[in-house]
Amino acid sequence: MITRRGFLRLIGSSVLSMVSLSAYAVGIEPMLLTHVKRYALTPPHWPSGLELRVVALADIHACRPWMTPERIASLVETTNALQPDLIVLLGDYVDGMRLVTADVSAPDWASALSGLRAPLGVLSILGNHDWWHDYAAQLAGAGPTVARKALESVGIPVLENDVVRLEKDGHGFWIAGLADQLAIRPSKALGRHGFKGLDDLDGTLAKVRDSEPIVLLAHEPDIFPKVPWRVSLTLSGHTHGGQVRLFGYSPVVPSDFGNRYAYGHVVENDRNLIVSGGLGFSIMPVRFGVRPEILQIDLG
Ligand SMILES: [Fe+2]
Repeated sequence: MITRRGFLRLIGSSVLSMVSLSAYAVGIEPMLLTHVKRYALTPPHWPSGLELRVVALADIHACRPWMTPERIASLVETTNALQPDLIVLLGDYVDGMRLVTADVSAPDWASALSGLRAPLGVLSILGNHDWWHDYAAQLAGAGPTVARKALESVGIPVLENDVVRLEKDGHGFWIAGLADQLAIRPSKALGRHGFKGLDDLDGTLAKVRDSEPIVLLAHEPDIFPKVPWRVSLTLSGHTHGGQVRLFGYSPVVPSDFGNRYAYGHVVENDRNLIVSGGLGFSIMPVRFGVRPEILQIDLG
């Protein structure tokens, strides 16, 4: 039989382990264990001889004290050290929760990102938070958002239903960027029911003028069932892997498809999706089982 002292010890140690687990989830895992998540694949339609290293940063969510301009600058250094051919930014630069001590202004996070260097350049898309925190854009139901202007002001193109053709080693390929699928929030005052996406997948892909391979950037992975086989690879963020992930399962995922596109490399009908666990937080400053990650993808 358990004694009172034993019971109290048990309670005490449970409380202590809860406290240390919380300290780990709030402090250590998010801040210290940022790592490079590597993938290597030859997706459909990829020409032999085209070796391309893409490094992707997702869900930065700049804010103090969690994602300061100094921390972004150190992520930029790590990214450059991977010697990417191309760097892509997958959206959600703006903070995603209320538990912050101060905002980081768009010029400040953009200036930190301006240090990114790659021979084929840096390309970006926007995420839902870049829209949701922009009251003028919400009111207008249209951009350009503050985030877009900040990125452009440091020379980083923003693809919203747009494409760019690049070349390496004599092979051409396309980077297509989708506008955000949850851009406009519901508003009773404005008579808007439900979220309105600004994404136009067909219109975007129609801008690709030849049969060269396409890499699609789409902040939310929920578009993936609609992405045609013609697209070699889709890169997404947004889910943060659920922020809490145990044994390959995330209890809470901001996706209509639950765990299907929560995290990692998904192959469906010979179509490839990679979802980054991202770098920052939304809702709560907690991460467990999903370390902040920089994606390195070697195609070829
Ligand atoms: Fe997002």
